[in-house]
Amino acid sequence: MESKVVLNERSCHRHQEAGKKTDGCDLDGGLAYISGFGNTLESEALAGALPRGQNSPLVCPYGLYAEQLSGTSFTSPRKLNQRSWLYRIKPSVTHEPFKARTPRHERLVSEFDKSNSCTTPTQLRWRPVDVPNSPTDFVDGLYTVCGAGSSFLRHGFAVHMYAANTSMDNCAFCNADGDFLIVPQQGRLWISTECGKLQVSPGEIAVIPQGFRFAVALPDGPSRGYVAEILAPIFRANGLAAPRDFVAPKAWFEEGSRPGYTIIQKFGGELFTAIQDFSPFNVVAWHGNYVPYKYDLSKFCPYNTVLIDHSDPSINTVLTAPTDKPGVALLDFVIFPPRWLVAEHTFRPPYYHRNCMSEFMGLIYGGYEAKADGFLPGGASLHSCMTPHGPDTKTFEATVERGNEVGPLKICNTMAFMFESCLIPRICTWALESPYMDHEYYQCWTGLRSHFSHETTNRDCVENGIQRGA
Ligand SMILES: [Fe+2]
Repeated sequence: MESKVVLNERSCHRHQEAGKKTDGCDLDGGLAYISGFGNTLESEALAGALPRGQNSPLVCPYGLYAEQLSGTSFTSPRKLNQRSWLYRIKPSVTHEPFKARTPRHERLVSEFDKSNSCTTPTQLRWRPVDVPNSPTDFVDGLYTVCGAGSSFLRHGFAVHMYAANTSMDNCAFCNADGDFLIVPQQGRLWISTECGKLQVSPGEIAVIPQGFRFAVALPDGPSRGYVAEILAPIFRANGLAAPRDFVAPKAWFEEGSRPGYTIIQKFGGELFTAIQDFSPFNVVAWHGNYVPYKYDLSKFCPYNTVLIDHSDPSINTVLTAPTDKPGVALLDFVIFPPRWLVAEHTFRPPYYHRNCMSEFMGLIYGGYEAKADGFLPGGASLHSCMTPHGPDTKTFEATVERGNEVGPLKICNTMAFMFESCLIPRICTWALESPYMDHEYYQCWTGLRSHFSHETTNRDCVENGIQRGA
């Protein structure tokens, strides 16, 4: 059965996942987190494991190795500098040489050109993909949908999706190309990182910064979701996502021999592997401001118009990766959460528009206010630069039919999101040729009729409460 936006005049509850405590503490599925965005944090799994007074003593407590992970250049201004110190049982460098991974991952792209992608201004929409039946872990389940730029040039972005059913086993992934913003849609993710563990449920997001090693377990089996990758700058949080609601893991480590442990490194869009005999999650303590983190989207504080018209969707930006141009994003992560609609004599759904930015949309649960059907949880759409889009025919007609006296309504049971970029995405050939492509998408607008009439007079304006000059 198809999910739809639920309009309800009464209050509705925030989306909640089983096992999530809501009493205000940081416990989640038995894990403890540290609160704050962009802060310099510290955590130690063994008391006294963090060196005091200096970062790199001759001998670290417990015989640990000191290792720095830097997310910005050494010469970045201090206010932008991001780096962390990890105190680990063995340093990351202790591994055999990297080799090209075999078999190659054919559908993971960080270099967008004519060899792997096409361009089209057509409105595109995909139905949700089926999770494969054969064993597929997070890495093998990743596939790129679209993107622009180059990881070699440190400028660009990619939109990936994943469909997987198996936990990563005796291996960890490391993305040298950029940051991953992971948006699970089906199934929780248990993500082990060098800073500790994160449990990320649908309705939450995780950011794994460039260079962190991580492994994804799938406790719910079949799992599906979206990933935005930024090939350069670092995400910043917008004001309506409170800093305290971003949480980082607490130090956690595993020790002992792990023969044949494989590091899978994405580097220049290619996958390489290196073998080592220990887990990379051997960090006993760490400190710094370069950390993985997660965020519960239900904690976002949405704003909306309180009188007329429809706010620009940028008001709902959770995270932004800026470019050098003020106000122009390499990638914005924008959400459309449950909220009240109260505008008077206003067409309340998103307005028809053409945008100089390009918009990739996904749906985590429920329905989306601008599409009566066809845009499903786990599905996706892409409206590229200057491609017209907006509410479908059913939504337009139902909205007008509802009339001006509709009163306050609450949109419930919905969590749509958008990855918005100033770059024009190229679309991977397999995404264009996907059996899940909705080739009838354009028809959702072809039913829009002309309502133009020369009979329309100032009377309509008066009925709409609009005062016009003579
Ligand atoms: Fe749009």
